[in-house]
Amino acid sequence: MTSQNIYILGIESSCDDTAASVMHNGRILSNVVANQKIHEAYGGVVPELASRAHQQNIVPVVDQALKKANITKDQLHAIAFTRGPGLMGSLLVGTSFAKSLAYGLNIPLIDVNHMQGHILAHFIDEDGFDKPPFPFLAMTISGGHTQIVKVDYYFDMTVIGETIDDAVGEAFDKSGKILGLGYPAGPEIDKRAKLGNPKAFTFTKPRVDGLNFSFSGFKTAVLYFIQREVKANPNFIEDRLNDICASIQYTIIGILIDKLKQAVKDTGITHIAIGGGVSANSGIRQALKDGEQKFGWSTYVPKFEFTTDNAAMIAIVGHLKYLEQDFAEQDVLASARLKI
Ligand code: KG4
Ligand code: ZN
Repeated sequence: MTSQNIYILGIESSCDDTAASVMHNGRILSNVVANQKIHEAYGGVVPELASRAHQQNIVPVVDQALKKANITKDQLHAIAFTRGPGLMGSLLVGTSFAKSLAYGLNIPLIDVNHMQGHILAHFIDEDGFDKPPFPFLAMTISGGHTQIVKVDYYFDMTVIGETIDDAVGEAFDKSGKILGLGYPAGPEIDKRAKLGNPKAFTFTKPRVDGLNFSFSGFKTAVLYFIQREVKANPNFIEDRLNDICASIQYTIIGILIDKLKQAVKDTGITHIAIGGGVSANSGIRQALKDGEQKFGWSTYVPKFEFTTDNAAMIAIVGHLKYLEQDFAEQDVLASARLKI
């Protein structure tokens, strides 16, 4: 076996997506994700249901990932899995499955930090996508995370800012719920924001020290604003939905960009890599592009399928750790609050 011929299976089960991916020498051969539709009816992820759905999905998802990659499990060199952070019941399914598969095949087991996965997804070999040079700032924004991380090298990372309450995706989703939009509401708010006036309404930005974020007060501000306006005009939401969405999105983007500007100022680093489901937002992408002109940033956004929760990002971390022979023992435990 040469270092030029490595097959890694990545498994991700930290929240509500069951995912498996096969990587060959840093390139993705397959990337399978089973989304759990069941949570839509509840307007958010229900941990018990997520865990049960992972149990049902994991075998067919892994099977499909191997089939799509056109390899058999005997060709694998290692099994990489998400150890944390995430929902304990969800993590346990992926962890125990990965352990038994690695044990049965007698190949190394590699534990992966989900947040490092979001960041190192930028290093998947993919035509047309540049890899950020070290050092860079990674901003991971999704329904579960909001972090700014200083990345000096693959496994030399420091969290320099994070949310003290809700994640930015929750700010989108909870605002959307107040407006009667479906879950998750982020994509719909994005779509409507394009048709509305971002300055129609103003929401005060939370004041949080340093590079940390807070979004729980923002959601309450949206709720009180809507309640007040609906009292005066019962059709307010229907009449002004696009303007409301545009104003909500504008405020959220402002919060993110202000902190990024501060992070660039504090660190002197101008390479910015974003990841997580919210990085699909067209307004955020535009604001980052504008930052290239205005502030001399260079920005990196991975291919979309590698930015929401997926197993390709787990496989790339597995690949990088495999090169360093950094393996886990069979007694490794899932960790809901695993830190970078
Ligand atoms: O990474 P992801 O698929 O799952 C995790 O939360 O880990 O992110 C989902 C989040 C949801 O909150 C969703 O509303 C948000 O990403 N999202 C968006 C957009 N697309 C997805 N938020 C704003 N604009 C979008 N275009
Ligand atoms: Zn995630």
